[in-house]
Amino acid sequence: MIIFNDFIYASSFTITEPETMTGDDMTAPQLESPRLGERYLLTPGPLTTSFATKEAMLKDWGSRDDDFRAMTRDLRSRLLGLIGRGSDAYDCVPIQGSGSYCVEAMLGSFVPQDGKVLVLANGAYGQRASTTMDYLGRKKVLLDKGDYLPPRGEEVAAILTNDPDITHVFAIHCETSSGILNPIEEIAEATRAGGRKLLIDSMSAFGALPLHPEELGCTAFASSANKCIEGVPGFGFVIARKDEIKAAKGNSHSLSLDVHAQWATMEKTSQWRFTPPTHVVAAFVEALKQHEAEGGVAGRGARYMRNREVMVAGMRSLGFETLLADRWLSPIITTFFCPADPAFSFDRFYDLMRDKGFIIYPGKLTVVESFRVGCIGQMDETVMRAVVVAAKEALEHMGVASAAPPATALEERKRLAA
Ligand SMILES: Cc1ncc(COP(=O)(O)O)c(C=O)c1O
Repeated sequence: MIIFNDFIYASSFTITEPETMTGDDMTAPQLESPRLGERYLLTPGPLTTSFATKEAMLKDWGSRDDDFRAMTRDLRSRLLGLIGRGSDAYDCVPIQGSGSYCVEAMLGSFVPQDGKVLVLANGAYGQRASTTMDYLGRKKVLLDKGDYLPPRGEEVAAILTNDPDITHVFAIHCETSSGILNPIEEIAEATRAGGRKLLIDSMSAFGALPLHPEELGCTAFASSANKCIEGVPGFGFVIARKDEIKAAKGNSHSLSLDVHAQWATMEKTSQWRFTPPTHVVAAFVEALKQHEAEGGVAGRGARYMRNREVMVAGMRSLGFETLLADRWLSPIITTFFCPADPAFSFDRFYDLMRDKGFIIYPGKLTVVESFRVGCIGQMDETVMRAVVVAAKEALEHMGVASAAPPATALEERKRLAA
């Protein structure tokens, strides 16, 4: 039992240390485990955050006070710093709410009322953007690649050639519902060659995977506080070309999701238009400092990549198979097929993993049973090794002899290779 101030948190699980640690592993610097004994969140946000990030929320801030306004300016400029070359042409507009609010704000603000968007979907978040366009009552055409097949540059080029009314292309950077890293460069190239504007949902990728909007010719992209920067949930942000923000005046369908209006107020007063999530902002600035100390996008991405390599190798050694071939795997989250063995039940597996200190994620595939394991948050390869040990013990507990997926799953996977 861990006692912290007046708060008592009863840890009902013990994480089994992997036996396979080599001397090198032992000397690798390890991240502190959750101080209050919480379970690790192997989920793509909310995710496990550092103690310092949580601690930054202990102070109250006046939303109109100079200190808080300085924090907002700091946050905006630090985020812009992450896009590298050409950042002068861009600005950062934080928006209250979750990631979906930011995607809706971006679509509603940068696509004019008479615009038309090509939405590229290969999972739940592309589908959500398509539904958002319906709510906005603006024209769209949907390229739906199913659960995970990537939208390719040549498909985008062909659609743009055949439909001159399309003004914008919307793409998902990492489609978190499968974990696929979409081919954003070839999509950007086709969009640029077709003379259209590019909007990106980089919710689960920004901060860990390089994203240079100027090189991609990107009008705007959206991400959120509780993903790769490792903040807590409560707001997101849109990073957009300044000229496009200015031109977006009057486009928005919504008062509170108007990127131009939020930007204009922030430029003038450094204030958020409506009540800001002050504590979340304070935590995020702290998280941004830790991100910088870790080596920025490159450092953060390298840790997540190592997390994924260790976890995927370990799970494969237990007989699990990934949905995606290595080429398409992101360092953010990985989808595994559920084993065909009738002794396997995902609900039971979830509970057993939970008892061992790990919260995993159900799958989102419509064709075959699957589950997902996230690699982002305050976790390192030592934790990922413990995840594999926990999975092994859970299989043993259920009496699962083989973690191999059903033949239908492997057939499904061949479609991606084709
Ligand atoms: C790629 C992507 N887009 C959009 C969202 C929606 O964000 P939220 O659930 O914070 O609204 C998510 C959430 O994980 C996501 O991964």
